[in-house]
Amino acid sequence: MTQHLVRIGIAGLGTVGGGVIKLLAAHGALIEQRCGARLRVDAVAARDRAKARDFSLDGVRWHDSTQGLARDPALDVVVELIGGAEGAARELCQGALDAGKHVVTANKALLAHHGTALARLAESKGASLRFEAAVAGGIPIIKALREGLAGNRISAIHGILNGTCNYILSAMQEGVRAGKPREFASVLAEAQALGYAEADPSMDVDGHDAAHKLAILTSVAFGCPVDLASVHVEGIRQISAMDIDYALTLGYRIKLLCISRCGTEGVLQRVHPCMVPESSPIAHVDGVFNAVITQGDFVGPSVFEGRGAGEGPTASAVVADLIDIARGLNVPAFGLPAGQLVARPTIPMARHAGPYYIRLMVVDRPGVIADVAACLRDEQVSVESMLQRSRNPDEAVPVVLTTHEASEASLGRALASIERLGTVLEPPHMIRIENL
Ligand SMILES: NC(=O)c1ccc[n+]([C@@H]2O[C@H](COP(=O)([O-])OP(=O)(O)OC[C@H]3O[C@@H](n4cnc5c(N)ncnc54)[C@H](OP(=O)(O)O)[C@@H]3O)[C@@H](O)[C@H]2O)c1
Repeated sequence: MTQHLVRIGIAGLGTVGGGVIKLLAAHGALIEQRCGARLRVDAVAARDRAKARDFSLDGVRWHDSTQGLARDPALDVVVELIGGAEGAARELCQGALDAGKHVVTANKALLAHHGTALARLAESKGASLRFEAAVAGGIPIIKALREGLAGNRISAIHGILNGTCNYILSAMQEGVRAGKPREFASVLAEAQALGYAEADPSMDVDGHDAAHKLAILTSVAFGCPVDLASVHVEGIRQISAMDIDYALTLGYRIKLLCISRCGTEGVLQRVHPCMVPESSPIAHVDGVFNAVITQGDFVGPSVFEGRGAGEGPTASAVVADLIDIARGLNVPAFGLPAGQLVARPTIPMARHAGPYYIRLMVVDRPGVIADVAACLRDEQVSVESMLQRSRNPDEAVPVVLTTHEASEASLGRALASIERLGTVLEPPHMIRIENL
């Protein structure tokens, strides 16, 4: 690296790439004061050179190929802001690390699939691989886990890591509260119109984006290789306004949570909708905000909240990584040297245990509840509370149960028996309760 000058190449000039260029232009002098080096964007690459952009590229070299940028000998750091687990993004990061350059990326899909291999490559070349922006946008959770909490053994992480899902669930909750319940599909359409959801929303609403982020956090928190395949993933499509209404009545909020726990038996990583008590700090993280709660053995719980996406917050995280590189800080990407990351046994979801919310749509007839109770009793699932609001002999009526702690496997068998009862008109709706 040239003394006092960090020469940066950026591939990808969309939301995040543009944000990084604007942030560096706005705060160049401040950053130079803080890290004693000038961060200068010398080269860029994107798909379309002719595209109109709302920032200046005067004096900046344009590379038609991302491989050209990766190998540009006059660059110290390559910033990958293209996206995707394969193709141009992966080749760029591998090429740049191969050439001994530091790499900063916001690409959770790439890291979730290839993070450990990239970290190994970075170390073999004495280069940094940094990815603060890949998880929870502007919240410095990677740095917190890797550095600020490094003296602790971390036992659990709970996160709201997908702003699209959180926006949809918050808007559905608002509708219920206002007496104008809205279902998932209508709120999703609104989120798409507002730019909070992609035209193809499946990465977000089916939980995959959140799973990518959880797999990365798990690795940093527990010192194991990134293991996306082990994450149990469920999305939010099946959440209805009726369940949100019952959650409010019972003193809960529904959130898509990312949860990772590490114990003596191994690691359980899961992404699914949860009911969390309204007294929990995470219950009030609404809209596009993200939050993470970590449990450290000496520090106890720590709560982080902030904007999980968008031009400014994501650029803030990318530039923080660039500043660390300018300061010469080269901490192993996942907190431990890649060769020392230890794979831990995966605890299957069937071994999860916790309380559950169950909503059944039943025929309102004597004996129905007794049959349901028998199915639960046969699997040793004990009921904590039951709610039946309306009585109408001509229609299916909702019956809501909450259970004491039960194993997922037992509950699954009980729900299968309940579904077979002739008086139960829909498959049971189940939401796990997480007492945070
Ligand atoms: N947006 C966010 O809030 C956010 C938050 C956290 C993390 N991230 C991550 O940040 C990364 C970038 O996201 P973004 O929202 O900024 O994406 P974006 O707005 O879609 O921008 C993508 C950029 O990549 C360029 N590009 C696409 N394919 C390319 C190729 N084959 N070769 C060279 N350039 C290519 C595009 O070029 P053109 O401009 O010429 O089309 C565009 O400039 C992704 O990994 C994303 O997951 C985004």
